[in-house]
Amino acid sequence: MSKPVKHVFICAQNRPAGHPRSCCAHKGADAVLQAFWRELQQRNAYDRIAATWSGCLGPCDSGVNVVVYPEGVLYQGVTVTDVSEIFDQHLVSDQIVERLRAPASVW
Ligand code: FES
Repeated sequence: MSKPVKHVFICAQNRPAGHPRSCCAHKGADAVLQAFWRELQQRNAYDRIAATWSGCLGPCDSGVNVVVYPEGVLYQGVTVTDVSEIFDQHLVSDQIVERLRAPASVW
């Protein structure tokens, strides 16, 4: 296995219904995770990009939250329709998707 150039962590934290912090799982995290894995497969990008589910990243209210390393860029409110844009712009072309980027006050 080669060391990835970019590593994406998708918050898939689940909590009981009615929990005061809510969670990314209730906002479509599994579908977002599957979309990242589908893009990885379609692009055969396993040698340079990794996508891994994670537990809570912190700002639960704004999920689904996704963080990209090594830059440490946090994206919030990510949906399935955003995944190909994150791939094309950030993971392939090193251009941060500003419209999804969490404000500095959050991350
Ligand atoms: S549950 Fe996803 S950031 Fe907290």
